[in-house]
Parts: sequence; structure tokens; C-alpha cells
Amino acid sequence: MRVLITGGFGCIGSWLTRELVRQKVKVYIYDLREDRRRMRLLMEESEYSQAEFVPGDITDGQRFFEVCQLHAITHIVHLAALQVPLCRADPIRGASVNVIGTLVVFETIRKLAGQIQNLVYASSAAVYGEPSAYDLDGDLDESLPLRPTTHYGAYKVCNELSARAYYLEHGIASVGLRPWTVYGVGRDFGMTSEPTKAILAAALGRPYRISYGGFQDFQFAPDVARAFVRCLAHPAQEAVVYNLRGTVADMATFHRLLTQVAPQAAELITYGERQLPIAYRLSDHRFQRDYGPLPVTPLAEGIRQTFERFRTLSQLGLVTDADLA
Ligand SMILES: NC(=O)c1ccc[n+]([C@@H]2O[C@H](COP(=O)([O-])OP(=O)(O)OC[C@H]3O[C@@H](n4cnc5c(N)ncnc54)[C@H](O)[C@@H]3O)[C@@H](O)[C@H]2O)c1
Repeated sequence: MRVLITGGFGCIGSWLTRELVRQKVKVYIYDLREDRRRMRLLMEESEYSQAEFVPGDITDGQRFFEVCQLHAITHIVHLAALQVPLCRADPIRGASVNVIGTLVVFETIRKLAGQIQNLVYASSAAVYGEPSAYDLDGDLDESLPLRPTTHYGAYKVCNELSARAYYLEHGIASVGLRPWTVYGVGRDFGMTSEPTKAILAAALGRPYRISYGGFQDFQFAPDVARAFVRCLAHPAQEAVVYNLRGTVADMATFHRLLTQVAPQAAELITYGERQLPIAYRLSDHRFQRDYGPLPVTPLAEGIRQTFERFRTLSQLGLVTDADLA
């Protein structure tokens, strides 16, 4: 396997790189610029230096094609994207990176006719709409209508539909995964990064307010990385998309668990009331049926591991108050 990860220096990409390098898989990182900051927080230099950096913009189709050809890439994990705040601020740029960028990946696979054996890409739970748009009495599976409330969510829906079109028109199979709130070391940007920043603040002994509340699905970054690895190793037969599931909990529960690990959080960490506009009781039974069993790290344990790591990193001066911005 020669795996190319687009957006590989991001949070999920860094955890995925750690997982793949430990399995002795050859990894190429396709990203805008060399930035191993997150990787440094998660693993030793002897590990992250094994991932080869290839600079490039995902919207540059010619460059992406040449890189995949030159390095004889066999598997692609497509993560490069702009997150909710950047898509809101500049929807045209957002569509360029998130939608055109995804088409670049599919076009490259088509042109390389047979070279790329598997594509796994990040969709998002943001394809779903407000919780009130769904019947939350039971778990929600992939058959439900998609009603995104953000440009970001709309772009992800578009990508899922493009994936289907590439399968129907060109026989290109793919797997899309829909994470919710990914948390853990390295999660430092985006709408749902605030719980991780709260854990960091507790480790630094600083006050922090999470601007929202309500329910969400907390998914531990290493678990999410392992889900991508599972899919990478077992290509789908068509264009498939899966919900992922971690721990569905409200912010009061998150706060209570954080306080059990770090009693100072009781005073330092506060949170708001606003429910994020994404349905949260998403079932992963299809993913577990096709790719499982994949165990979920309990939220209390994920918080504990993240807190301990942040405490070590702060003693080493590798995370500071500036990371709370
Ligand atoms: N983190 C989450 O909670 C979450 C939830 C649902 C879906 N996702 C999706 O998972 C994927 C990865 O998320 P993340 O949290 O690791 O994101 P991130 O913001 O940490 O990383 C994104 C990476 O993409 C790169 N990138 C941006 N524009 C690029 C371009 N034009 N060309 C090449 N690279 C570019 C960035 O430099 C960065 O390294 C994204 O597609 C995101 O939409 C994330």
C-alpha cells in the first residue's frame, strides 16, 4: 500500500499518519505547506519523519495527478477541506477546496485507470440538519434525508453525490465517512474544536468558555483514524457512505467527566446553551456491520488520555495559552 493523504497535516490526518506509520505503511502527505505541528504532539520524530511531504493544492488537478503518478500511489485518503467557519466566511473559496478539490481526486483516479485501488474520504455528520428535523426517539441511519444547514454541510452532500456519480458512470468505488465532533490532541480548529480546547485549558490551569451546549457525538481522534484505516484496507464494491458513532452526550456530561479527571475544571470551564444544528443520535450499525467490530473509547477515557497528554506537552512547552485562541 502506498497511501497518499490529502490534508494530512490536519488533526485526523496526523492521527491517521501515526496509525499507518506504526503499521509500516508508506505514507505521502499532500498539503499546502509543511506543518508537522500536530504530528509533533502525537508521536516521535522517528515516526512522523517517515511520512513524505509532497506540497500541493487540492484544487490543482494537474499537480495532484502528477504526484499520484510519480509516487505510484495505490490508496488515497481525502481529508483536505476548509471547515465550517472558513466556508461561512468565503463560500466560493469553500466550494473550490471542498467540492472542486474532491472532484480533482475522483478525476485523478479516473485518469489513472486502475492504479488507485481504494479511496476513502471524509464526509461529515453536518450533512444532517437540525435535530428537530428528525425523530430522535430512535437511532438515525443513513437512509434519512440530508438537510444540511451550512455551506460546509451542503458541500459534503455534494461530494457524496459526486462519489455516487463516479461509481455509476465510471465504476469508481469509494467509502465516505461522516465524523461528528472529533476530539483529542491536535484538534485545534473548527466549530467543534471547543471541547478539546476546554481539556487543554484545564491542563494549562486557564479559564475557558465553550460557546455552545446541548448534545453532540464525541468521537476520539484515534478511533476515527482507525475507522479510516479499516476502510482503507478493505475497498468497497460501490460508492458507500457511513455514519460514525462515538459517545452521544450533552455538554453537562462532558463537563462532569472533565471535572472528574481535572477537578479545577469545575471552576475554570463553562459552557453555553446553544444546540449545534446537527442531528446527533446517528447510528453506525452499517459501518460496524461492514467494517467492524471497531471498539469506541469511552468518553471518560478519551478525556483522561487527552488531559494527561496535554499536561505533558505543556510541561515540555509544546502547548501554551496561545493554543486556546
Ligand atoms: N474534525 C472534525 O470534527 C471533523 C468532523 C467531520 C468531518 N471532518 C472532515 O474530516 C477532514 C479532516 O478534518 P480535520 O479536523 O483533520 O481538518 P483540519 O482543518 O485539521 O485539516 C485540514 C487540512 O487540509 C489542508 N488543506 C486545506 N486546504 C487545502 C488545499 N487547498 N489543498 C491541500 N490541503 C489543504 C490544511 O492545510 C489542513 O492540514 C475534513 O474533510 C473535515 O471536513 C472533520
